[in-house]
Amino acid sequence: MTETAPEESTDREPSAWRALAPMMDLVTPMAVRVAATLRLADLIGNGAVGVDELAERSGTDAEALGRLLRHLVSHGMFAERRPGKFTVNEPARLLRSDHPSGMRVWLDLDGFGGQMDLAFTGLLHTVRTGQPAWEVVFGSPFWRHLADNPDMAASFDATMAAGPEYVVDAVSGYDWTRASHVVDVGGGTGALLAEVLQAHPDMRATLVGLPDTVRRGRQFLATRGLDRRCDFAGQSFFDPLPRGGDAYVLSGVVHDWGDDEAVEILRRCAEAAGDHGRVVIIEGHGTSGDDSGAFAEMNLRMLVLCGGRERSLDDYTGLAAAAGLRVADVHTTPLGHVLLDCVPTPRPAGGVAAGAEGS
Ligand SMILES: C[S@@+](CC[C@H](N)C(=O)[O-])C[C@H]1O[C@@H](n2cnc3c(N)ncnc32)[C@H](O)[C@@H]1O
Repeated sequence: MTETAPEESTDREPSAWRALAPMMDLVTPMAVRVAATLRLADLIGNGAVGVDELAERSGTDAEALGRLLRHLVSHGMFAERRPGKFTVNEPARLLRSDHPSGMRVWLDLDGFGGQMDLAFTGLLHTVRTGQPAWEVVFGSPFWRHLADNPDMAASFDATMAAGPEYVVDAVSGYDWTRASHVVDVGGGTGALLAEVLQAHPDMRATLVGLPDTVRRGRQFLATRGLDRRCDFAGQSFFDPLPRGGDAYVLSGVVHDWGDDEAVEILRRCAEAAGDHGRVVIIEGHGTSGDDSGAFAEMNLRMLVLCGGRERSLDDYTGLAAAAGLRVADVHTTPLGHVLLDCVPTPRPAGGVAAGAEGS
């Protein structure tokens, strides 16, 4: 028998497809996103809905919708209890608009969440060049693209604020009673500040961010009755920041940037925090390094999108030191957020703090 005997090769071929299927399948991830975009879980609701009726409700082609749903059913999402009648099961429930994970928004192909995933069609470019794929897929760099597309920028802001359980987890990792005035830098539309202000009635806050985002933040905080306890600064965080806060928060901000920009943002925070303030870095995927799946995925994602990166504790310590800060404490949360509590590096008598000389 030769090495390439037919019975061996026919055994090998299908098993290679089967073994790789969970990693190489583009059909299922797209099918889930299409179901989320069409809000099928909302449209089916609690009953069993026929495919023709569901096509009517979702403005889709019944034959194609049936194929989509049967593919998802074969992967455990949605159920077909009677022929042609579909129901929402536990996995499909995660796609409901009111689910606290906010997953539907993250998967919506008409919004930022889905667009962000489509940037991965340019992954080969990123790996060949080391540069973000966003620019070649969408025509301009990430932040430029959002600035030029107000609808997508609004969708980005809404996506960042989606998932209340995630925000609650992020704030759970810190003792906010240490601060009487929290400045959330690049704070999106104020979801984190709302949680903190709500829990601490004597606290004041400042929301710093790009002007349109801060305008949306003011509206959001007004709906929660919290806007009177908050100042609003529509500006770049690369410019000098409002002073007077005692905790400057950077949540999900540092990982958006390469090291030089990250140090610059931290330095702006350190300057504004002064000798007695703190800078609290919050990131969502830990500091474990590439041995953790979530860390590795986000590390790749940040490069593909905007040239950012995930970092180890040593990395953050180095960035903080370059900005005149010291990591005094590290907290992790049940959902994997890491909070780094940074304090100013003591200044030598008559001098400036190490690393804080400015660029
Ligand atoms: C990944 S989001 C994080 C938002 C929020 N802190 C959170 O945890 O959901 C990054 C934030 O940085 C803001 N941002 C980006 N470039 C900025 C700049 N140059 N100045 C101020 N904010 C900026 C974005 O508008 C966005 O709100």
